[in-house]
Amino acid sequence: MKLLVTGGAGFIGSNFILYWIKNHPEDKIVNLDKLTYAGNLENLTSIQNNPQYTFIKGDICDLGLVDKVMEGIDIVVHFAAESHVDRSILNPSDFVLTNVVGTQVLLDASLKKKIKKFHHISTDEVFGSLELNDMNKFTERTNYSPRSPYSASKAASDHLVRSYFHTYDLPTTITNCSNNFGPYQFPEKLIPLAITNLLENKKVPVYGDGLYIRDWLYVEDHARAIDLVIQKGKVGETYLAGGMTEDVSNLDLIKKILNIMGKDESYIEYVKDRPGHDRKYSVDWSKIKNELGWEPKYDFEIGLQKTIDWYKQNVEWWKKIKSGEYQNYYQKQYGAAI
Ligand code: NAD
Ligand code: TYD
Repeated sequence: MKLLVTGGAGFIGSNFILYWIKNHPEDKIVNLDKLTYAGNLENLTSIQNNPQYTFIKGDICDLGLVDKVMEGIDIVVHFAAESHVDRSILNPSDFVLTNVVGTQVLLDASLKKKIKKFHHISTDEVFGSLELNDMNKFTERTNYSPRSPYSASKAASDHLVRSYFHTYDLPTTITNCSNNFGPYQFPEKLIPLAITNLLENKKVPVYGDGLYIRDWLYVEDHARAIDLVIQKGKVGETYLAGGMTEDVSNLDLIKKILNIMGKDESYIEYVKDRPGHDRKYSVDWSKIKNELGWEPKYDFEIGLQKTIDWYKQNVEWWKKIKSGEYQNYYQKQYGAAI
């Protein structure tokens, strides 16, 4: 099999490529990535000389390039996206271009080349927000109700993927997963931001009252879910993947990290809230469990410990990121607060 992975230099894409090469060494992988601020080839140095792996720097919106790259591809695994909610609030246009237009370009090229499967990676954020006291969970039947420019662009991409299945019989599958965490995550997202700030003896910015709830999924478990859906998922179907069995607020999560890292609560800094901040996400992953036999292997605390260990052992990786363009972003987002 020959896979085209888009966005393979990002957090989840690079974890997926490393997972795939380990578990399917006979397959070939082409990684198409624009290398935006979030793309980092250092995530893939361990396989850069592997003859089964090829990297192509390019934009998924570039029709000519995508057509060429698609030659001989069996399966497309589409991760490439602008992925950070706060950046989508500061500048939505890149989100529409990459997440919506880029997805449509890939779908068209996949159709032309009659690829065997198009797997689209999406998010639980397309379903909008639950109330704090709502014990319902998102399921594959929940109506879409995206509320940030990021989630709206991902929702649009999901609709396009389904439309290519229904209209043109393109063999598609979609996974909508919850918040991932683990190695190689860009330190603008909550968990790596908290860990790296604490390693630098800085405070952790907590938005609003900190009582927001996310469902956390260890990235390797996510890679395994995608593998199963690619191999055994039913064409035209959507599968939700999540990692939690109980609610954990952002504040509880930060306290767990402080505890593991031996810091006290004086390292919590309450900062101004995110506009339109979704209160709660919670994912019912019974469909993928019942139909494909998937469930998370890593308990939340174990995943957190592994993630903290990774950031401790890979200081060079995140120090480089934090000393670059990141500083402008951090200043814009958090100002003089911390
Ligand atoms: P990321 O921001 O770490 O990586 C995105 C990658 O896409 C980067 O390597 C970037 O260079 C590349 N890219 C961006 N625009 C591109 C373009 N126009 N052409 C080619 N490459 C481009 O993102 P991530 O966290 O790894 O997320 C991957 C996918 O998973 C995204 O589709 C995201 O919506 C989805 N997702 C992420 C999470 C999460 O918690 N991180 C949760 C649910 C869904
Ligand atoms: P984030 O990692 O940005 O993921 P998403 O917005 O896609 O869920 O944020 C996770 C949660 O943490 C979300 O409720 C916003 C909150 N948050 C903070 O409290 N402080 C921060 O500095 C960041 C980045 C996020």
